[in-house]
Amino acid sequence: MRQILELYRPYRKVLLLGLGAIMLSSGFGLTIPWILKEAIDRLKERPAGTTLLLLAAALILFTVFQGTFRFLARMMIVGTSRHIEYDLRNQLYRQWLRLDSSFYDRVPSGDLMARATQDMSALRTLLGAGPLHFSTTIIVGVSAALLMAHLDPWLTLYALAPFPILLWSLKELRHRLEAQLHRGQERYQELCGQVQEAVAGMRLIKSYTLGHPMVAAFRDKGEEYLAAEMRVVRLEGIYHPLTSLAGGLGVVCAIAIGGQQVIAGQMTLGELVAFMGYLGMLMWPTIALAWVMGLWQRGKVAFERITQTLAEEPAIREHPQPIYPATVRGAIEARDLTFRYGNGSSPPALTSLSLSIPAGATVTLVGPIGGGKSTFLSLLPRLRELPEGQLLLDGVDVTRLPISTLRQSIGYVPQEGFLLSDTVWNNIAFGLKDPEESQIRRALFLAGLEEEIATLPDGLNTVVGERGITLSGGQRQRVTIARAVAADPRILILDDGLSSVDAEIERIILDRLRTHFRGRTVLMSTHRLTSIDRADLIFVLDRGRLVEQGRHEELLDRAGLYAHLWNRYRLVHDSEFRVEG
Ligand SMILES: Nc1ncnc2c1ncn2[C@@H]1O[C@H](COP(=O)(O)OP(=O)(O)OP(=O)(O)O)[C@@H](O)[C@H]1O
Ligand SMILES: [Mg+2]
Repeated sequence: MRQILELYRPYRKVLLLGLGAIMLSSGFGLTIPWILKEAIDRLKERPAGTTLLLLAAALILFTVFQGTFRFLARMMIVGTSRHIEYDLRNQLYRQWLRLDSSFYDRVPSGDLMARATQDMSALRTLLGAGPLHFSTTIIVGVSAALLMAHLDPWLTLYALAPFPILLWSLKELRHRLEAQLHRGQERYQELCGQVQEAVAGMRLIKSYTLGHPMVAAFRDKGEEYLAAEMRVVRLEGIYHPLTSLAGGLGVVCAIAIGGQQVIAGQMTLGELVAFMGYLGMLMWPTIALAWVMGLWQRGKVAFERITQTLAEEPAIREHPQPIYPATVRGAIEARDLTFRYGNGSSPPALTSLSLSIPAGATVTLVGPIGGGKSTFLSLLPRLRELPEGQLLLDGVDVTRLPISTLRQSIGYVPQEGFLLSDTVWNNIAFGLKDPEESQIRRALFLAGLEEEIATLPDGLNTVVGERGITLSGGQRQRVTIARAVAADPRILILDDGLSSVDAEIERIILDRLRTHFRGRTVLMSTHRLTSIDRADLIFVLDRGRLVEQGRHEELLDRAGLYAHLWNRYRLVHDSEFRVEG
């Protein structure tokens, strides 16, 4: 509760003004039955026309005031909630960018989407409609009850007798509603997940003509969500008839008893009319109270989930005493490196890996799928957190290096490259501060893209990705390579980065990279062994362990796993070797 109120802090002046406007609006509203009473009671005295006119004018004027202040209150309070939502959304987005891979391994993307959409709007509704209706309810409810008591205490007691029963049953319903709302939100998350997956994997779904089963699966998820929400609707639906019933009973009492009193001359007709007016005014606050309670439940759950995300700390943090290296030479050493994904209970993806890469070497990692190549390569730029003392760059623990220095020294091409929906230029210049044409041109050349880019409709300004033209798999990979080399990093990492380009182009690109990066460390992983004989050093990883290392010929002589992989590769890809002559 305190935390939610804390959200209003920057806007407290506007909020207070808004609450003031509600008081004025309610005040004017409360005078209306009273004016009616005056008018009706004066009818008996055959008053001058001007008095009635004055009363009528007051009635109109006060109604206008009531409406005006209500409008102002709405603008200020609901406006405030919109501003808070805007702030929170930005915070959430910033937080998403701050968090690292381990968070995204853990939290499904449907969940994230639900937080940014449904939770955000539930919280906004609570922040806006909450104070607006809650304060109106309190002010109007209490004042109307007091005015009724002032008119006739006993009659008030009779008319209000059903209300406590009503409030009690509302409280009972609230518990059940809470549980249902939780369930509803979970179902919604799953639904978001389904949509997200379908949209991301649409091409796959189409190619397997899996449209129908997907529709059915979506319908099932939708049905579960619908069922959960229907239970909420049912529970919420009970509130309204209950309130009407209580209100109706009150009205019956008031008419039966109050009518008797008017006939007996103990009460004036005007007083009864005013009394009924206030009783009517009590109805809405009671209904609103139930509604606000629902808002509170939804909003509170949403707020908890949003703050939970905002409170997440990235696993990868700057070392409190970072070591600033003068230069990065690119010597890499792993010392008994063991790495597990997730919370540490899964089997290690890398086990006691010890290896040493001299600065300036061209190194290739090979081995069966799932051997740990990508895992090792992602640890160097610290994309995942690893224990201290196990991976060193130029003799310094990577966890001690400033993250920005580390990442700026490394050009990293992940196994699954990602293109922004933007121009080719912006995709390549992504990490650069002031990109120069020469840098981009050089990157294009190194990635073997210079001729192909010229054939695109707008050259470098062609928009690619979701909102633009679709590049081929090999072109996409090469744009990712161009992005990594554009900043001219000290170390280049290519994680299977050329798997989709044909062997001949691969050879050209590798030649260019080798020439350009001569003297700098280049780490690659690959399943294509065509050009591997040129690597200075080869590491063979199998099930997370380093099983062999050495130069191509040495490894062939050992007749171990490498020789086996190589012979099989030659057999299957005979043609590639023949093309090269
Ligand atoms: N994000 C992840 N969460 C949990 N486990 C993972 C994750 N990424 C990889 N793994 C596991 O870690 C092990 C090593 O995977 P890794 O991707 O490093 O292998 P690889 O040698 O790059 O394989 P490939 O040749 O197919 O690219 C595998 O058992 C894999 O299932
Ligand atoms: Mg891999």
